[in-house]
Amino acid sequence: MKKNIDLETTALGLKKEIQEHNFNYYVKDDPIISDSQYDSLLKKLEGLERQHPELITPDSPTQRVGMLSSTVFSQVSHIKPMLSLSNVFHEEELVAFDKRIKTDLGVESIKYAVEPKFDGLAIALIYEEGVFSLGATRGDGFTGEDVTHNLKTIRSIPLKIDTKNLPSRIEIRGEVVMFKEDFFELNRKQEELGQKVFANPRNAAAGSLRQLDSNITATRPLRFYAYSIDFEGIENTLNSHSDSIELLNQLKIPTTDLVKNVDDVNGLLTYYHEIIDKRQDLPFDIDGVVYKVNSLNHQDELGFVSRAPRWAVAHKFPAEEAESQVVGIDVQVGRTGAITPVARLKPTFVSGVTVTNASLHNEAELSRKDVHINDFVLIRRAGDVVPEVVSVIQSKRPKNIRAFVMPTHCPECDSKLKKEEGEAILRCCAGSQCPAQKKQAIMHFASRKAMDIDGLGEKIIDQLLENEMIGDFSDLYTLDLNSLEHLERFGEKSAKNLVESIHKSKKTTLGRLIYALGIRGVGEATAKALAKEFGTISNIEAQTQDNLEGVDDIGPTVSGFIYEYFHDGSNISLIGKLLSNGVTCASEAKKEVRLVPQISKKVFVLTGTLPTLKREDAKQIIDQYGGKVTSTVSKKTDYLLAGSDAGSKLEKALSLGVEVLSEDDLIKWTMEEE
Ligand code: IVH
Repeated sequence: MKKNIDLETTALGLKKEIQEHNFNYYVKDDPIISDSQYDSLLKKLEGLERQHPELITPDSPTQRVGMLSSTVFSQVSHIKPMLSLSNVFHEEELVAFDKRIKTDLGVESIKYAVEPKFDGLAIALIYEEGVFSLGATRGDGFTGEDVTHNLKTIRSIPLKIDTKNLPSRIEIRGEVVMFKEDFFELNRKQEELGQKVFANPRNAAAGSLRQLDSNITATRPLRFYAYSIDFEGIENTLNSHSDSIELLNQLKIPTTDLVKNVDDVNGLLTYYHEIIDKRQDLPFDIDGVVYKVNSLNHQDELGFVSRAPRWAVAHKFPAEEAESQVVGIDVQVGRTGAITPVARLKPTFVSGVTVTNASLHNEAELSRKDVHINDFVLIRRAGDVVPEVVSVIQSKRPKNIRAFVMPTHCPECDSKLKKEEGEAILRCCAGSQCPAQKKQAIMHFASRKAMDIDGLGEKIIDQLLENEMIGDFSDLYTLDLNSLEHLERFGEKSAKNLVESIHKSKKTTLGRLIYALGIRGVGEATAKALAKEFGTISNIEAQTQDNLEGVDDIGPTVSGFIYEYFHDGSNISLIGKLLSNGVTCASEAKKEVRLVPQISKKVFVLTGTLPTLKREDAKQIIDQYGGKVTSTVSKKTDYLLAGSDAGSKLEKALSLGVEVLSEDDLIKWTMEEE
């Protein structure tokens, strides 16, 4: 018995020691032992664990490599959605951001925490009882992929943290990046081995993290930087973003030392320029800086709009520009029939990728920019956005330029192109009769944020259409092994994989299904909002245009598109085919709302500190009883729910004659209903 306890103590000591050296090496960049000393510590622990497997714990440094995920990554629902950031590019937008925040909070000045915007991959790490238990990608913000086994190979991520005095479940968010230097070295090795090279460090990081075999990930030099920590009751422990960073540092989770605090817009701008100057010398790519309201109470009060916090903004760097030459211009037909002129370019390297095409947007843009075939042009690429032509370099205009004339008929189906009133865009109105639109609709249907059919790329869709194996996306569900095996370049294994992923996609969510239908104007967020509001497809079909317009973010134009879509017989039969081919979706309907007349359909604004309820709880109660919470007091506000230290919102409410409620009033209303 004693021997076992001794062994356990030895193993524990080794685990701690190795983790400490990982921290010194990967986080502090200041190792205190040699590589071979480190290896021998690891070997010692491995030996001990081999002889006494009962000593192996999930947080042991020996458990970092060698894990195989099955054939797919499992899905993880984020407890709190992983949001995006709104962007600003110019000083005026930043001034407006700062002003809005001060007005919303009713304060004269505001303190910000500022930090770089990493150009990597957003990741959430869950620690339970101090042990790293789950790591997931951002995915669509609501559901990500479980990449725990790969994240464990990143040695700067501790497998165990010291959570004394902290709750048992902690969520840390941040970004996985690859250093620029490591990226070049990786590409050099890949090239040597005749393997895929990556376009830029972000793609290399993403590709490395999405390996099913963690042994491969372990060979890729990935790093992690945290920018947030979250746990139950955080507001009682931490006051500010800076406190969060401080806590992360105490827990030995890597953060960047470029985080600072500033007091006003001037401070934000100074930081922005400081970082631009340092940008080239930083080890990792960044694509801007992030400004965050430092006080967590203020963050909470400001809340969120759509999918981004109101308390933070990304100040993006201007996109990189490069010179190229237009070798041709032709048009592309988009999913909704939009005709876009595209410049074919001499291959040009910009922002880490070789660009051969750039969008010219529409006819008006084409003539405004005066782009001709053979012109020299400046092109720009910002993030994942399609590259665009910025301007013609007039001084270099060659003699042999040729003008491009927009076609009058669709290059794919020859139907006459039309321009809708007030629109700049020419459209092919043939819908699914146009082969280009048909193909794009299927590609969209299968895409990651829609039905997520892994392995169904453009080339396969082309083959399926050419061989008339499918006529629309609902036919995908009739494909079987037999039919697929006969396709060119298709073996038994790839056919089997595709059938499996098509089958897997049958079980989806209503939001994804609505998005997958490709209704004009209905992006991911709108599709989710529709799903949440109406719960089933047939319920959406039954709505008037007015009802549709009542849903978050849906205006008159988009509600018109949705209404038309669901009143077109061919769409209804397409949906019918999908459902009869086995597509089912879990409802995302709002939880049954119990309507309380005083709360239902009423608009609330919250301010100050409530005596017992947390702001989030109060919001949830209002939501649950059918009310709506907004952030600014206006004539449309029905009630101001005010706690202590209420500021300008209270004054405004009183001046507008908005009724002011206490927490007690709200609770009483809900109790009357029980
Ligand atoms: S804060 C709710 N801080 O940017 C606010 N995000 O557009 C959430 N990102 O994919 C993010 N550096 O992973 C924050 N210092 C930073 C960041 C950062 C990069 C990424 C983030 C997300 C995207 C949001």
